[in-house]
Amino acid sequence: MTGSKRFAILAERDINKETFVEPWPEAGLIVTDSPFDPQPSLRIDSAQHQIVELDGKQRADFDALDFFIADHAIDLNVAEEAMASPSRNLARMLVDINVPASRIRRLVAGCTPAKLCDVIRYMNVLEMMIGLAKMRVRRTPANQAHVTNKREHPALLAADAAEAALRGFAEIETTVGVARFAPLNALAIQIGSQTGRGGVLTQCSVEESLGLRIALKGLTSYAETLSVYGTEGTFVDGDDTPWSKAFLSAAYASRGVKIRFTSGTGSEALMGHAEGRSMLYLEARCLLITRGAGSQGVQNGSISCIALPESLPGGVRAVLAENLLASMLGLEVASGNDALASHSAIRKSAKLMLQFIPGTDFIFSGYSAVPKRDNLFGGGNFDAEDFDDYNVLQRDMQIDGGVRPITEEQAIGIRRQGVLAIQAVYAALGFPPITDEEVEAAVLGHSSDDMPARDVVADLSAADRFLAGSQSMLDIVGALQQRGFTQTAAAILEMGRQRVIGDYLQPAAIFMPIPHLELTQPRYHVLSAINDVNDYAGPGTGYHMSEERWKEMQRLPQVKSPREFIKDQVSGRCERLVELGAAKESRHSEVIVAVGPGFGTALTRTINGVDHEKVLEAILTGVAREGLTARIVKVYQSSDLAYIGYTGTALSGSGIAIGLQSRGTTVIHKRGLARLNNLELFPQSPSLTLEIYEAIGRNAARYAKGEAVRPVPVQVDNWARLRLIVKTALLHRRETEEVRDKPPMEMFFDWEPDV
Ligand code: 5AD
Ligand code: CA
Repeated sequence: MTGSKRFAILAERDINKETFVEPWPEAGLIVTDSPFDPQPSLRIDSAQHQIVELDGKQRADFDALDFFIADHAIDLNVAEEAMASPSRNLARMLVDINVPASRIRRLVAGCTPAKLCDVIRYMNVLEMMIGLAKMRVRRTPANQAHVTNKREHPALLAADAAEAALRGFAEIETTVGVARFAPLNALAIQIGSQTGRGGVLTQCSVEESLGLRIALKGLTSYAETLSVYGTEGTFVDGDDTPWSKAFLSAAYASRGVKIRFTSGTGSEALMGHAEGRSMLYLEARCLLITRGAGSQGVQNGSISCIALPESLPGGVRAVLAENLLASMLGLEVASGNDALASHSAIRKSAKLMLQFIPGTDFIFSGYSAVPKRDNLFGGGNFDAEDFDDYNVLQRDMQIDGGVRPITEEQAIGIRRQGVLAIQAVYAALGFPPITDEEVEAAVLGHSSDDMPARDVVADLSAADRFLAGSQSMLDIVGALQQRGFTQTAAAILEMGRQRVIGDYLQPAAIFMPIPHLELTQPRYHVLSAINDVNDYAGPGTGYHMSEERWKEMQRLPQVKSPREFIKDQVSGRCERLVELGAAKESRHSEVIVAVGPGFGTALTRTINGVDHEKVLEAILTGVAREGLTARIVKVYQSSDLAYIGYTGTALSGSGIAIGLQSRGTTVIHKRGLARLNNLELFPQSPSLTLEIYEAIGRNAARYAKGEAVRPVPVQVDNWARLRLIVKTALLHRRETEEVRDKPPMEMFFDWEPDV
């Protein structure tokens, strides 16, 4: 063998399936500080009230993006002051709890893209996280889910949307494999989500004019992928301009549909138009375009391009930086963590912490609430299979990550309601029927592989007719009402009413159901940057979850009460073990077996369920096979293993004693050794079997005879402590309760050796 076996194993690790490259600025493969990035600069022609120089470029040389930014995204009233403020001061203001967000935001309004990047230059990820906790616009953090499946099965979409809503997601996004499915997929998640929890916002990510038509029909309540890019070339390839995006966003808003733009590091390099600029600089341009266009928010954090910045040094930091920049600009941030970004569970979790710990408006801009291979966004970075992990992270850190645990029964129940609702609507609208068999599969299945096949051609022509026809959300509400799905009907109707009200067009708006109100018609309460202002200003301020919410987060279905943990170890009594009187020293060549104060009485079995009498039999057999006898004494003054064994040695004629705690932990001790020293220690009680106890008895006898002894080999189970630590603690606690101020007692054990 030539290579190192350790390196061979390292090479197989998940992390080494990723691509890591050195920066290459000319190709845009650099996350911050490209040598081709401009220096911050700004000149205003005060007569014209116009920016005439932006980041080193004269107005005559502006491209479309520069014009848009200069004319729509920078507040001329503060621009000079902002540009003259040292970037390091701005960076420090972001982490200074005594500086309110509004003061920072006022200055940021006058910053150019290069100036924004210059502020980031002074910040490490911890400082940026503090900045994000402060600058995030909505006080309450939330989360968005992805619900798709590769068969585009309406029943499964409805079931998954219902479950995602019940799991607490504030927004649900779907998309399509085949574009023509869009109206049906939008319909399925609308019905599912409003069944699961009224007030969840839904969207369908498709080509923009199609997305708008679906929204106008009332099948979606928000739109998110109004993509913007940091160079003109990328915009041109996308058949767009900042103005067309602004127009589209106004079109949505005019019909009461919430919108946010999408941008993020890496898209320009991926599309071959990075112009040698760093990813963060280009993102800063995107964010100013987003603000200039009047969008209330942005989905950023690289999104679909995440693997590209992650291939580069500092990539994960830059992605956090772009989330922070967006929040500094007062934009709602749906902060990525959506697309599959790493093979490594360690790496993906570590990256998540940068948004999870500070909290963002939507920590995931798409947590995949379906199995990875059903995620049509290319697989989620976190999927349905990670729900329990995510809930545990919330519980571990006492962080509200926008999700809550649910039980299997709750999931099945809500899935069934969602699927029955879509089945009814398909029947009422004359779409290809959803069979009872499909309902069952959608309720109980894992993925679209478990779904019966549908006639895709028939579904698609129904989709075409539905899109072309005049039916809208109101027909859905009617169908649901007619067939008895009154709650879902009422929830969808309320979403329509909210569109007319329009409060949820405010930055970072989500709906919270109004609790404790027995209304026949649901009413939702908007939480947004206007009425739920993030007022974080250091410890004791900002978002604090309610008692109720914290209890909910703790209620994982797999949590047990520790009170019953050791009931298997406390059943009955060891009738054959009888306490005589105070134990005496002896001069025989013998072995003492010193047991803990709970042995055979308060506790009767070891941690892995071995009967205490059987343990004694095994040890005594081992001793007997070496031709010696053993005396059993019970130590009352301590439950500590070293103390128990040590006490035994003082009574033992040979000076050899075996100390034995009730949970099974064992030591072979010898008179004259320090208390915490020993001949052999068996600290892992769960791996101790009767064969091992017999071998321990044998070895103790051999020590007593003064022989040379080979220590008893034991298997080490590295996971045992992790698995059993609660039980260990409780068994030790129970034994400690039996401690008395009482000398060691002689024990009679009714047993004959069978040697
Ligand atoms: N920049 C701009 N748009 C993006 N999208 C994903 N990532 C980015 C990015 N970094 C948009 C694209 C894609 C949709 C899911 O989101 O439009 O199709
Ligand atoms: Ca999204």
